[in-house]
Amino acid sequence: MCGIVGYIGPRDCVPIIMEGLAQVEYRGYDSAGIAVVTKKGNLEVHKKKGKLRDLRDVLPKRLTGKPGIGHTRWATHGVPSDANAHPHTNTAQTVAVVHNGIVENANELRAKLEAEGIVFTSETDTEVLAHLIGRARAAGHDLQDAVRLVLSEVEGAYGLAIVDATQPDRIIAARKGSPVVIGVGEKEMFIASDVSALIRHTKQVVHLDDGELAVLRADGFETMALDATPIQKKLFAVTWNVDDLDKGGFEHFMRKEIHEQPLAIERALRGRFEERFATTHLGGVNLSAREVLDIRRVKVLGCGSAYYAGIAGAQLIESMTRIPADAEPASEFRYRNPVIERDVLYVAVSQSGETADTIAAVQEVKRKGGLVMCVVNVVGSTMSREAEGIYMHAGPEVSVASTKVFTSMIVSLGLLGLHLGRIKDLGPAEGERIINGFKRLPDDIRRILESEPEIAAIARKFADTSSMFFIGRNAGYPIALEGAQKLKEISYIHAEAYPASELKHGPLALVSPEFPVVAILPDDPLLKKNLSTVQEVRARRGPVIGITQSSTAADEGLLDHEIRVPKNEPEFDPLLCNIPLQLFAYHLAVARGCDVDQPRNLAKSVTVE
Ligand code: G6P
Repeated sequence: MCGIVGYIGPRDCVPIIMEGLAQVEYRGYDSAGIAVVTKKGNLEVHKKKGKLRDLRDVLPKRLTGKPGIGHTRWATHGVPSDANAHPHTNTAQTVAVVHNGIVENANELRAKLEAEGIVFTSETDTEVLAHLIGRARAAGHDLQDAVRLVLSEVEGAYGLAIVDATQPDRIIAARKGSPVVIGVGEKEMFIASDVSALIRHTKQVVHLDDGELAVLRADGFETMALDATPIQKKLFAVTWNVDDLDKGGFEHFMRKEIHEQPLAIERALRGRFEERFATTHLGGVNLSAREVLDIRRVKVLGCGSAYYAGIAGAQLIESMTRIPADAEPASEFRYRNPVIERDVLYVAVSQSGETADTIAAVQEVKRKGGLVMCVVNVVGSTMSREAEGIYMHAGPEVSVASTKVFTSMIVSLGLLGLHLGRIKDLGPAEGERIINGFKRLPDDIRRILESEPEIAAIARKFADTSSMFFIGRNAGYPIALEGAQKLKEISYIHAEAYPASELKHGPLALVSPEFPVVAILPDDPLLKKNLSTVQEVRARRGPVIGITQSSTAADEGLLDHEIRVPKNEPEFDPLLCNIPLQLFAYHLAVARGCDVDQPRNLAKSVTVE
């Protein structure tokens, strides 16, 4: 989704902003732009549809100045085009605005401005803000007061950065629903929608909360509410390293992140076992044992891959606690006006901690007095400040398609399951067995990663396929969902997941020699039934790729291709089956020449509802 970067300080802002924009590229975008206050005191704006290199091509070499703001846009109002790219300016070309989010009453505000004779140059909702702020400045208000006045008229969501060539000693930032982070440097200040754009310059950051506005000057900043009441903010120290944001010798972030999984799990597990009681200790989970005993149901909420990890995690929690647990798409949750019950534990799962739909779900539970916690990767993110919970410690995930964090989400939900289970009725021997399973996961995954060349060779054979099914039973089903999701996201091959038992109830009609099926076949009590489904596919001459843990399926001659994963404990076997599917999707997408890390139309962090 859109990215914001801004700089004020002694240095030329252009290279800082361009490099910052490159860091937020991964979020997904279709155009980019920059606004700079030049030495002569003019506002110079350049923007271009396409990638950052297209913007670089049109930037005049002489362009220097400060302060400045930049933006990568993911189209919402108006098609991707040069004119719709941000920054947007007022008619006098003094004020420039970059905006993430949606102004919901833009049409109404636009009509009013047009009636006053203002001519718009784009189809965006953001341009309305530029004209309104310009008009308030012309009426004599300071930039921050102009922004405050305008925002009190605005409905919708925003993360904003604003410069004014006639007040070049400040940048104004504001937030409602879309993340904004201030980076605090030595006599220089940064603004961004994402800490990754800042960490090359500073690790000291401040997260704006909804309804807050910040005035950044080279030597400091002040924060206030929209009614100008001052607000004191806490400094956060970012723990990520600059190296985490490099590809580290891999061709794509996705492949690097797939290979980081053993380390990510080791980090998630570090310091979390309390061996004496065969349980876990989770610093952010402050439920008393008595409160845990009162929990009668667990509901996991997430979007996209986080939802699928939520299904897998809920199954783990249910098996360890014998408390009914399920998952629901956070994007749908609030629209059904959910009944929030006192004895339900809601768990929101998110890599970014910024997904607008998941935040809204958390707020819905909180508003109705429910018990909610979160499982989040990005430290200090909005969700992590909304509710207590568990950090995954997976390190930054840059590729739009989630891999290591999907795995870390299941691991973290498993850690929670063990914690709750050992308070409920999971015995110590079972606790120990599960802890040992957790500990074996990194090495099991290393072994799967060693078979990457074989998996890649299988994947390449399917580069011309147009559709595939992914099937799995029970705990294999969320893995099938995620496998299909990975494939469509990055290779644009149509892929659908079904519970294996459902195949015969409709989808089987499509299976043919041109319609391959990926079957998740862990060595569990359902293997026999799974193999019957595979037989049904074979009977229609559908090619089958099996993810297996034993030779049964291959021995029966049922598979065209087999990818074997090690056996762990039954709880973790499905998670292991997912690792080859990540590599399968990756190598298939590479074979098709796709932009693996930045698939078309998608964004890493979806900060609009
Ligand atoms: C977007 C991404 C998905 C991701 C989902 C949830 O749709 O493209 O890959 O799974 O958001 O993101 P979150 O940051 O909440 O885990």
